[in-house]
Amino acid sequence: MAKLKTKTAFLCSVCVDDFPKWNGQCPSCKEWGTLSEFKVPAKKNGRKHEPRETKSLTDVLTANSGERISTGLKEADRVLGGGILAGSLILLGGSPGVGKSTLALHIGSGINRKVLYISAEESEEQVALRARRLHVNPDQLFLSGENELDGIISHIDRIRPELVVIDSIQTVMNSGLESLPGSPSQIRDCGQRLLEVSKQKNVTILIVGHVTKDGTIAGPKMLEHMVDTVLYMEGDDRYDHRILRSAKNRFGATHEVGIFNMDENGLREVANPSEMFLAERSVNIPGTSIYPSLEGTRPILVEVQALVSNANFGTPQRNVNGFDYKRLGMLIAVLEKRLGLAMGTKDVFVNLVGGLRVDDPAADLSIICSVASSTMDKPIGEDVVLLGEVGLAGEVRSINRLEQRLLEAAALGFKKAVVPAASVNDKVKKIKIDLYPVKFVKEAFKILF
Ligand SMILES: Nc1ncnc2c1ncn2[C@@H]1O[C@H](COP(=O)(O)OP(=O)(O)OP(=O)(O)O)[C@@H](O)[C@H]1O
Ligand SMILES: [Mg+2]
Repeated sequence: MAKLKTKTAFLCSVCVDDFPKWNGQCPSCKEWGTLSEFKVPAKKNGRKHEPRETKSLTDVLTANSGERISTGLKEADRVLGGGILAGSLILLGGSPGVGKSTLALHIGSGINRKVLYISAEESEEQVALRARRLHVNPDQLFLSGENELDGIISHIDRIRPELVVIDSIQTVMNSGLESLPGSPSQIRDCGQRLLEVSKQKNVTILIVGHVTKDGTIAGPKMLEHMVDTVLYMEGDDRYDHRILRSAKNRFGATHEVGIFNMDENGLREVANPSEMFLAERSVNIPGTSIYPSLEGTRPILVEVQALVSNANFGTPQRNVNGFDYKRLGMLIAVLEKRLGLAMGTKDVFVNLVGGLRVDDPAADLSIICSVASSTMDKPIGEDVVLLGEVGLAGEVRSINRLEQRLLEAAALGFKKAVVPAASVNDKVKKIKIDLYPVKFVKEAFKILF
């Protein structure tokens, strides 16, 4: 490792001013005995600023075709807004073992261009073993275990790849800084340098990032601001499917999802996720209903299951998977107050089958009806889908993109849809599904039970 260049300075603990020399009294705030020594990283390799030229927008438009490079995975292309845009900086986050390196390797071989894969986290042999398992095309893939930023940049200059994968940003370091790899200052500095490289050399850089306990990418939030696209890979140990979500995209729609199945050969695309999520659907059992969710621009049908039973002790339990816990509490209160179902002594369990997590008020009607169905022990018809936001007065409020959701339901053979009256328009009426527009939850109950 290069020798760290640092200089000594003295920091006042009161006014936080720094000085090159020690003094008994702080020259700034005049407090006594407050200066202590600290090390300042040397200036970054004495890099000189080179002013950039100014260009006319017409010239830039002519020179840049806005070419999208396909990743070879349709699901990933969709999330990226139609493929990778040359010269963009992409951040891919996800919990440990979810499949970030796997996806990065699939993309690296799928784009069929020269790729430099920096595996600072794993040895080249480990990456090669994974590549063999995934049966990826090794022809244009170059590997390096380099973890020093200047080293990585010199590899980029030498190999001139079109895509660079940095796996992961937490293991890359700028040896000009004193802090350890993975520290906020290292991540910020390395992110900034990689941004410069991607824009100046028009090379796409895919940065893999670890996530913290609360699910956000570890390190300064600034990293997410710097990059063009932020992707998150989600998955649940209990299921084989993985969901790729875009949380930010300067060149495409956000909250778009791609769905994959993970097996020993890596990630396989799931062309029809609704079929996958409904594969083991329970029919004619009280407490289940179908809700057409919308993930990005993509409708996915999800089975909502509820189980209501008598609470044995004190406070009844409320448990939910895949939906907001507090919102479930609100829906139970609406059931109690507006629909006259006594829920105070009942345990309520709600599960969105398949490990999908939704943050969509349109799921309310399906959830409240599933809970009521289990409470009353009356099943909901197997060919019905339910949609609508439920308000505190027990009203069913309008939702977005009803047409898209119903098209998916009709395509999968559903015959009836209970929907908010306010969302029905001419386009929706043309869909081959019987519409039951409702204004209140109690009207939905009359139709269903
Ligand atoms: N032989 C195998 N068969 C099936 N699945 C496998 C096999 N080997 C690995 N996997 C899957 O791949 C996952 C690890 O993938 P990968 O290394 O890409 O994840 P990662 O997100 O990069 O992890 P890390 O955070 O450790 O870097 C494992 O959790 C497992 O699900
Ligand atoms: Mg990894």
